[in-house]
Amino acid sequence: MSLLLFFCTFLFLLSKNTIANDIMVQKEHLSVGKTLVSSGQTFEFGFFSTNNTKNLYLGIWFKNITPITVVWVANRNHPLTDSAGVFTITDDGNIAVLNGSKIAIWSSKSSRSVGNPVVQLLESGNLVLKDDSASYLWQSFDYPTDTRLPGMKLGLDLKNGFSWYLTSWKNVNDPSLGDYSYGMDITGLPQFVILNASTKQFRSGVWNGVLYTGLVGFKLMDIFRNINDINADEVTSTFENKGNDSSVITRELLNERGKLQRFRWDKQTMKWIEMLVLPRDKCDAYNHCGINSICNIAISRTCECLQGFTAISPEQWSINNWTDGCVRKANLECASDIFVQIEGLKLPDMINFLVNQSMSLKECDSECRRNCSCTAYSNSDIREGGSGCILWFDDLFDVRKFSFVPLNQHLFLRLASSEGEPIFNNTKKKKKNSQVLMKVLVSVGSGVFFFCLVIFLIIWRTRRTDTVLNDGERRNDLDLPLFDLITIQSATNNFSHTNKVGEGGYGPVYKGKTSEGQEIAVKRLSKDSGQGSIEFKNEVILIAKLQHRNLVKLLGCCIQGEEKILVYEYMPNASLDYFIFDKKRSKLLDWDTRLSIVKCIAKGLLYLHQDSSLRIVHRDLKASNILLDWNMNPKISDFGMARLLGGEQTEAKTERLAGTYGYMSPEYAVDGHFSVKSDVFSFGVLVLETMSGKRNRGFYHDSHHHNLLGHAWILWNEGTPCELMEPGLEDSNFATSQKVLRCIQVGLLCVQTLPEDRPSMSAVVYMLSSENSLLLEPKEPGFFFERSLDDHTNSYPRNSENQVTNSLVAR
Ligand SMILES: *[C@@H]1O[C@H](CO)[C@@H](O)[C@H](O)[C@H]1NC(C)=O
Ligand SMILES: *[C@@H]1O[C@H](CO)[C@@H](O)[C@H](O)[C@H]1NC(C)=O
Ligand SMILES: *[C@@H]1O[C@H](CO)[C@@H](O)[C@H](O)[C@H]1NC(C)=O
Ligand SMILES: *[C@@H]1O[C@H](CO)[C@@H](O)[C@H](O)[C@H]1NC(C)=O
Ligand SMILES: *[C@@H]1O[C@H](CO)[C@@H](O)[C@H](O)[C@H]1NC(C)=O
Ligand SMILES: *[C@@H]1O[C@H](CO)[C@@H](O)[C@H](O)[C@H]1NC(C)=O
Ligand SMILES: *[C@@H]1O[C@H](CO)[C@@H](O)[C@H](O)[C@H]1NC(C)=O
Ligand SMILES: *[C@@H]1O[C@H](CO)[C@@H](O)[C@H](O)[C@H]1NC(C)=O
Repeated sequence: MSLLLFFCTFLFLLSKNTIANDIMVQKEHLSVGKTLVSSGQTFEFGFFSTNNTKNLYLGIWFKNITPITVVWVANRNHPLTDSAGVFTITDDGNIAVLNGSKIAIWSSKSSRSVGNPVVQLLESGNLVLKDDSASYLWQSFDYPTDTRLPGMKLGLDLKNGFSWYLTSWKNVNDPSLGDYSYGMDITGLPQFVILNASTKQFRSGVWNGVLYTGLVGFKLMDIFRNINDINADEVTSTFENKGNDSSVITRELLNERGKLQRFRWDKQTMKWIEMLVLPRDKCDAYNHCGINSICNIAISRTCECLQGFTAISPEQWSINNWTDGCVRKANLECASDIFVQIEGLKLPDMINFLVNQSMSLKECDSECRRNCSCTAYSNSDIREGGSGCILWFDDLFDVRKFSFVPLNQHLFLRLASSEGEPIFNNTKKKKKNSQVLMKVLVSVGSGVFFFCLVIFLIIWRTRRTDTVLNDGERRNDLDLPLFDLITIQSATNNFSHTNKVGEGGYGPVYKGKTSEGQEIAVKRLSKDSGQGSIEFKNEVILIAKLQHRNLVKLLGCCIQGEEKILVYEYMPNASLDYFIFDKKRSKLLDWDTRLSIVKCIAKGLLYLHQDSSLRIVHRDLKASNILLDWNMNPKISDFGMARLLGGEQTEAKTERLAGTYGYMSPEYAVDGHFSVKSDVFSFGVLVLETMSGKRNRGFYHDSHHHNLLGHAWILWNEGTPCELMEPGLEDSNFATSQKVLRCIQVGLLCVQTLPEDRPSMSAVVYMLSSENSLLLEPKEPGFFFERSLDDHTNSYPRNSENQVTNSLVAR
């Protein structure tokens, strides 16, 4: 019996052809179709071919990942064209690829001759050639192609004059040497650069003893730990998976378009998840704003001249062509020049420079003053209060500003004395004034924009056909209480003003008490719903069937003459906006409550989108439509309104019922396209508002003119998203901040510009509830520029509303 079992196992292994064999000795060879597999089954080594060609390449790939993900290629420029080729250890102890005529088309060219060489594919993905001695004779990790794995070095071996760098493939199907490379530049202080042939595309900014000044934005949730080794012998950087978790599979790729990406394999979805990409934004593009300027994603125009400088070509500059950069307003006078201090910069590139690591900042200052072509200086090392000196001469290249990162390094910029006082003196006041002016200009601009948007909407709405709300079931078998008007009138004290608790876009809401003592909320719908009573009743019955603990419960309705009234359960704790936007009341919502509120809203919305029979798009999700019960459980209200009020049939009505500025997705606001993904956008806004305690619209910040989404996006890019968190809540600690951070990231994913990039609500619920699930890197949000029109109402300004109606009547 046991013998049978043994053979069975043996046969099984044979048939799967996975006899783990990670070693090959001299005189053996590996022919096409045969592979070495690393001991833990992670990597496989052998010949592979790409999609378009019959070319064969020797390489290493992930064994259990499809489609094949190659991490290293030996003969990238010399493919094998016949399947009679082999991989072998040659007599002189090198490894080589021999073609059918036994001619080496690739070899390791190791110069040391050895005894008993063996080749081994390690579990790290490193292919090594070794003998009886301790060190490797050759290893693939020393000859990277386009991929870096944990443990691989990038940088320079100064002792042996050897450098490790990545080079891209020509295209996804051609591993031969492409145009792009990524490696360490030590012209001055060390920095990483991505080159296109020999043109800089991106640089990390110089190393200042603690970090690369342009890479401050690495995310807190980054799963990689970067290890920098900067000393007299070596300037290198490696990365490892946080916690050294060997079950986590990661890689860094310089792709064929010159982007550096970091990926993690997600075992659940069987997909590579992009965790980081460089360049990240336009300010990462090398010298994006031209010389002597500052690139800053936090300002609406992105580029500004350095203090004391002005655009070389003002007309080009005014149409956002930054090519020429900036020039001094006043010529330097040398002896009487002053230096202004600028904070938070990715320091200028090392073009014309001097570095002296043993100078103090004071010596640096006098050295720069002494030479008239010295334009700026800075400490070269920020550790222990700062030391060393960098001097820049002539024009300054590729400077970017971070608004929220406390970089403890200043640039001292030389200016003619006429260009004003050092920055910390009077200049602050001036800046304030110009900011106020800016603000006014932006307000005027956005007013015009708003107007145009309304016109747009009118045009689009009149042409649009809505398709999202499908018909669903139409059975009338539900017992929905029909209240009569008299009952409701007496419950609400005849719709008395004192009973009014709110005014939504669809009409006023009153608190009431039935004769049995039950508290109810009564929504008196605007009279012009444009739908017949029977249809309306059918709709109410359908909507009433939607039952979920995170939806406000519809108790009944009343249809009498012109009156259409909905009766809901009464929610004692008002709505979410009542708490989060109020200085005092917001303290009542601690982090646990906020996180739970966000999760519950997500579940309610998922129910509307997917799980209910009606598949409803809410279209007006916002903080004031989230009601809270005694236990602060949130319930979505006003769902199904578009259906109830016949929004589908009459465009004019849809117009008035459409969502709320600040919560509307770009495709909805501009094109009138709505879908579940426009609700997802509104949900994202709601999440960011709940985490920050700030309204999206009407958001104000000293250092930029964006709304809350823009603010969150800047903080995210600069690696400080926790700044968004409402300050001063009692249960703030590291564990909660990690949860909040996840929530903010989900929020940002939801407000991405393109609907197809936004997750579905089921993905959102999953991401919020499983704390170890992987999150994508969010892309730029939609509508993150500022508009300062007040927004506390639900509908459009009166005049334009009238215009809408009129224009429709006229048609
Ligand atoms: C290669 O071909 C397969 C199957 O035709 C396809 O799924 C895959 O996307 C292709 N890969 C590339 C890189 O073109
Ligand atoms: C092997 O390579 C040599 C040199 O490039 C070439 O002359 C020969 O034709 C190749 N043999 C085969 C079978 O491709
Ligand atoms: C790289 O250089 C080539 C040739 O000059 C150019 O066509 C290409 O657009 C450049 N790539 C990028 C990303 O700028
Ligand atoms: C991770 O593993 C590598 C190789 O085994 C080791 O050198 C390194 O010190 C480990 N790092 C941590 C943080 O444990
Ligand atoms: C941008 O400005 C430069 C220099 O003034 C000019 O040569 C170039 O044509 C301009 N580019 C565009 C797109 O106008
Ligand atoms: C660096 O500065 C120190 C102190 O001012 C000076 O003694 C030394 O000569 C300088 N080194 C170089 C290479 O200029
Ligand atoms: C100023 O520095 C530059 C760059 O190091 C050098 O070429 C030039 O000779 C210096 N000028 C003086 C007056 O020292
Ligand atoms: C600010 O200006 C005053 C004179 O207006 C001057 O005395 C002072 O030194 C300046 N402060 C700094 C930090 O330069």
